[in-house]
Amino acid sequence: MKYKSLLFGVTLAVLATACGKSPQTPKTDIPVYLDDNQPIEARVEDAFQRMTLDEKIAMVHAQSKFSSPGVPRLGIPEVWCTDGPHGIRTEVLWDEWEQAGWTNDSITAFPALSGLASTWDRDLSRLYGKSIGEEARYRNKSVLLGPGVNIYRFPLNGRNFEYMGEDPYLAGEMVVPYIEGVQANGVAVCVKHYALNNSEINRHIANTIVDDRTLYEIYLPAFKAAVQKGHAWSVMAAYNLYNNEHLCSNEVLLDKILRGEWGFDGVVISDWGGVHNTLQTARHGVDLEYGSWTDGLTMGKTNAYDNYYLAEPYKAAIGKGEIGTAELDARVKRILRMIFRTTMDRNRPFGSQTSPEHYAAARKIGAESIVLLKNDGDVLPLAAHPKRILVVGENAVKMMTVGGGSSSLKAKLEVSPLDGIKARYPDAEVVWERGYVGDVGGDYNGVSTGQDLRESRNPATLIADAVKAAREADYVIFIGGLNKAPQQDSEGEDRIQYGLPYGQDAVIEALAAATDKFVVVNISGNAVAMPWADKVPAIVQDWYLGTQAGNSLADVLSGDVNPSGHLPFTIPVSYDKNPVQTERQYPGTPRRSLIDGMPVLDMEYTEGIYVGYRWYDLHGGVLYPFGHGLSYTSFAFGEPRLDKQSMTENGSLTVTVPVTNTGAKTGATVVQLYITDVEASVDRPAKELKGFAKVMLEPGQKADVSFTIDKDALSFFDAAKHEWTAEKGSFQALVAASAQDIRGAVEFELR
Ligand code: BGC
Repeated sequence: MKYKSLLFGVTLAVLATACGKSPQTPKTDIPVYLDDNQPIEARVEDAFQRMTLDEKIAMVHAQSKFSSPGVPRLGIPEVWCTDGPHGIRTEVLWDEWEQAGWTNDSITAFPALSGLASTWDRDLSRLYGKSIGEEARYRNKSVLLGPGVNIYRFPLNGRNFEYMGEDPYLAGEMVVPYIEGVQANGVAVCVKHYALNNSEINRHIANTIVDDRTLYEIYLPAFKAAVQKGHAWSVMAAYNLYNNEHLCSNEVLLDKILRGEWGFDGVVISDWGGVHNTLQTARHGVDLEYGSWTDGLTMGKTNAYDNYYLAEPYKAAIGKGEIGTAELDARVKRILRMIFRTTMDRNRPFGSQTSPEHYAAARKIGAESIVLLKNDGDVLPLAAHPKRILVVGENAVKMMTVGGGSSSLKAKLEVSPLDGIKARYPDAEVVWERGYVGDVGGDYNGVSTGQDLRESRNPATLIADAVKAAREADYVIFIGGLNKAPQQDSEGEDRIQYGLPYGQDAVIEALAAATDKFVVVNISGNAVAMPWADKVPAIVQDWYLGTQAGNSLADVLSGDVNPSGHLPFTIPVSYDKNPVQTERQYPGTPRRSLIDGMPVLDMEYTEGIYVGYRWYDLHGGVLYPFGHGLSYTSFAFGEPRLDKQSMTENGSLTVTVPVTNTGAKTGATVVQLYITDVEASVDRPAKELKGFAKVMLEPGQKADVSFTIDKDALSFFDAAKHEWTAEKGSFQALVAASAQDIRGAVEFELR
């Protein structure tokens, strides 16, 4: 800026001399809000002072499906949002969900966040954030609607694939680098869905009843980390209710906790259509209202954007004195702050789209996310030169970047598992058999996969054909699981069964009986029942991996990449083992009263803090535990040791464990640290994850892995005192390869 002003001054001087006049003082008085040498807060204040009431009102609600106004008169740009969280959504029509039909908005589809979480790798999360942030920036977006960190409460939630698993510490650690990576591009994240949005059906009317301790220990930590450690510039308020108020106008969660206790200075954006009233929202709710209705242009005044709760009704309420302007002013300043952090940051980079780097990042993250659940007899990796590979299953060919709700994408490239395997084994005969018929659809809001998956054979014939082909193959790889169709892994509805749909169990059983060289690949964002687990030698948990899905899978099956993914959730043996069992817990019990003119269901989180392994540690029923993941090599953990036997409240303590690669291949494992409170005055889980590290070791290589913990790792939330408390006494530090594979323990005292 200074440089520009100087040049301007020189030019003026030259012009003035040429005209025979004496040089004038250069004009340097640009407004403070446009001067990027000024601190953001000064710019916010200056811009704010120049705005009229109408301009302020315009700024707090949408003007189209995904945008809201800036201040055109002052040159302050609009806010443009995009889904999120796995790639940049296709451009939609101004006022519709339908795609606009642009031809330059095909993007890189990155792995689903359930996959990112299963890498347990903070660096890969940063790479993910950086890459998707660059795509958002290239497309000129101000806000990326993601990442999602709602806790995986039970395996039927249709959106678990968009979240980061069952453990608040894991989700909190993984979300921070993602945020930093995105925001380094001058694009705000919008961390969603704040909070307690742990299932989909009835999401607009479900009122969560949860005790404070559970709220603070399980459902809030990842959001808190996003705000306080990741410095997220925006947060999305969820659809559901808590404490009898919709989240978009929730006094406790928004005002008291998010803005109050955590000091959040960014923008709270409503989930699309999540606002239901003017006054309560104006007093305590979101800063920015989106999606309240969708057809403002065709329906005229009744459904126009001016009629949003935070539009003319808000202005009228101010006019009538029902509410003052202080809340509006605070809102506008928060939005201005976000605009200065993003679009008005002249130094932000320009971004990029579908670059080779993004494809490489998607492939690497994908490969490192895949979890080897079982590998008896070392069926995997596949031999170097197999002659004939039979691939069975719809998910081997189905394009799954389309569908699933708002995270649906228009990917420029999607390599299917079958194509990935074919590309990796060009000399082998790779044959595909359908096996079962799942979802033959492939359209979402006008984006189409163009695949024709219709099938005329009946289930018995499909199985018979697959079994016949299996007898002639060196390897049989079944690739099935869930998909993005309604009632699978998809927004707006939940799964209706824990078991695999479409009769896949019968296909797997038949193939298992026909061959020993058999691998089952389950693609899903949720745990599924695996009643055949004992009968198949190798099981792989795969995810919706996007553009590079097939290449990432082939990398792992072939052994080009040694698997190092670890489960971010528990796979229980059967649905009746999971913590959510009663109607009271889910889907909830209807009430008589209305809230915001809508019926309400109470959904009680009676399982309390016993979510995920915290529950299974008490009740059993685990098929594959949280944190589990095998490798093509093996790792030995030595005795853990402490740097001291006790710590004080303000001190810290370091646990170190030597880890050795005892196998023949280079590979990575995830060393996990769990803490047990040996003596406590309250119920505490048997253990809680408080540290993890991914270490890559060559054969024979040994490394010391250290974790330094402080009081936070020992604390529980004391609801009566409303504070985190660590009680003096004994604790255990467990080093582990999964929640059920504890390799060593050391005891210490908090003095
Ligand atoms: C979803 C959000 C999404 C928004 C905009 C909502 O239905 O819950 O996650 O960001 O739509 O598409």
